[in-house]
Amino acid sequence: MSNFDKNNPFPSRLVDRRRLSSAGSQKDTQHFSVSLEGSGLTYKCGDSLGVFPTNNPQSVQALLKAAGFSGHESVTIPKDTSSITLHDALTKRVSLNGPTYKFVQLLHDRATAENEKAQLAALIAEPDAEKKKAWIEQREYVDLFAEFPSAKITAQELVELQRKLMPRLYSISSAPSKYPNEIHLTVAVVRYETNGRKREGVCSSYLADRAQLNAPEVPVFVANSHFGLPADDNIPVIMVGPGTGVAPFRSFVMDRATRGAKGRNWLFFGDQRKDHDFLYADEWAAYLKSGALTRLDLAFSRDQAEKVYVQDRMRENAAEIWKWISEGAYFYVCGDAKHMAKDVDATLHAIVAEHGKLSAEAAIEWVKQFKKDGRYQRDVY
Ligand SMILES: Cc1cc2nc3c(=O)[nH]c(=O)nc-3n(C[C@H](O)[C@H](O)[C@H](O)COP(=O)(O)OP(=O)(O)OC[C@H]3O[C@@H](n4cnc5c(N)ncnc54)[C@H](O)[C@@H]3O)c2cc1C
Ligand SMILES: NC(=O)c1ccc[n+]([C@@H]2O[C@H](COP(=O)([O-])OP(=O)(O)OC[C@H]3O[C@@H](n4cnc5c(N)ncnc54)[C@H](OP(=O)(O)O)[C@@H]3O)[C@@H](O)[C@H]2O)c1
Repeated sequence: MSNFDKNNPFPSRLVDRRRLSSAGSQKDTQHFSVSLEGSGLTYKCGDSLGVFPTNNPQSVQALLKAAGFSGHESVTIPKDTSSITLHDALTKRVSLNGPTYKFVQLLHDRATAENEKAQLAALIAEPDAEKKKAWIEQREYVDLFAEFPSAKITAQELVELQRKLMPRLYSISSAPSKYPNEIHLTVAVVRYETNGRKREGVCSSYLADRAQLNAPEVPVFVANSHFGLPADDNIPVIMVGPGTGVAPFRSFVMDRATRGAKGRNWLFFGDQRKDHDFLYADEWAAYLKSGALTRLDLAFSRDQAEKVYVQDRMRENAAEIWKWISEGAYFYVCGDAKHMAKDVDATLHAIVAEHGKLSAEAAIEWVKQFKKDGRYQRDVY
């Protein structure tokens, strides 16, 4: 048993950090290892790791400067009793992005320059809801202070309007049978540009750029999940995990290989380009050679004019997928929820209808039961 959980995270040491995507990639996907030594924490394949990030110090400084604060101001975080400095609150406790129209309203009420007040009033009254939403989504607090410098608010008002800085979850990509005292993560570092400014995801950039190697400072907890390998090692598994969605499947295959489990393992992996984004290519090659991985089907979307996705590979192998399912296989999906997981789900329904010789309605019922039986599991985000 461990004393560490979400309310009392373990200050883990980051012991490895390396790029998985090559320098020529359009993405920055990285591998991280954190040590569990001294924590008493345990995990199983399919679990996630919660990470509490801190904000980028440069972003904190930029916000303090734009808002006209020193950082020494004393503030109290809502639902907390003790006071801390504004600098510490902005670094560890609140989110620097995601301002709302409540904040825009406050700026409007406090603006002393007529042109700013009029512009803020027009933004609040904007009738086109989509336009209104898009405008605020492109801005962080720092942008609003910079755009409306005549509006002065107090440090306490600011932290009361900011969202709490939340931990981020990452699917664990190591197996406890091989690494009982370490947890591996496979993370796409979020970097983009809006409103003429470079932005970064808080937690992925914290792990990639700011967390010190070998210092006990990354607060983590294990988030248990129902997502996981079948209890029976002989059951075959089909895993669909493009991009960072491959994370839990590295854990699954590593675990079965380490324990010498006999069940067959079939992975569908995809990403942008084979030469740059083939995550853990050497490991898959070794697992294929040893027989731990039975099949690997790849879909590199940007290596040719037409997009090729994992569900295209599923369609090409529909009869074989149905055969595995008929032989008892579990079917797993991990990664992007918005597009990929929906399309893979539709493809699974089509395979069930065609090869199970079912109507579309009957296929829906069949897949529902497949899910209820715990044989169709998804870890999508
Ligand atoms: C169960 C679970 C498992 C997960 N597993 C993994 C995993 O294994 N690997 C992994 O990498 N992630 C995983 N995630 C996602 C992860 O938790 C974070 O959401 C992700 O790392 C982004 O967090 P961040 O703090 O870096 O970015 P944030 O600071 O949260 O910023 C992300 C936000 O930035 C904005 N944004 C991003 N890109 C753009 C753009 N191009 N244009 C405009 N706005 C943009 C969007 O509003 C987006 O929501 C998982 C999530 C869940 C719930
Ligand atoms: N919660 C989140 O914040 C979240 C979740 C998932 C992804 N993302 C964003 O995605 C970035 C990378 O994530 P990732 O590494 O996991 O990879 P990803 O973006 O999910 O991409 C992996 C592969 O999936 C392909 N793909 C795109 N649409 C698809 C679809 N409808 N069906 C099947 N495959 C599809 C991509 O192709 P193309 O790109 O060539 O179309 C690429 O080859 C992150 O930096 C993040 O910005 C964010």
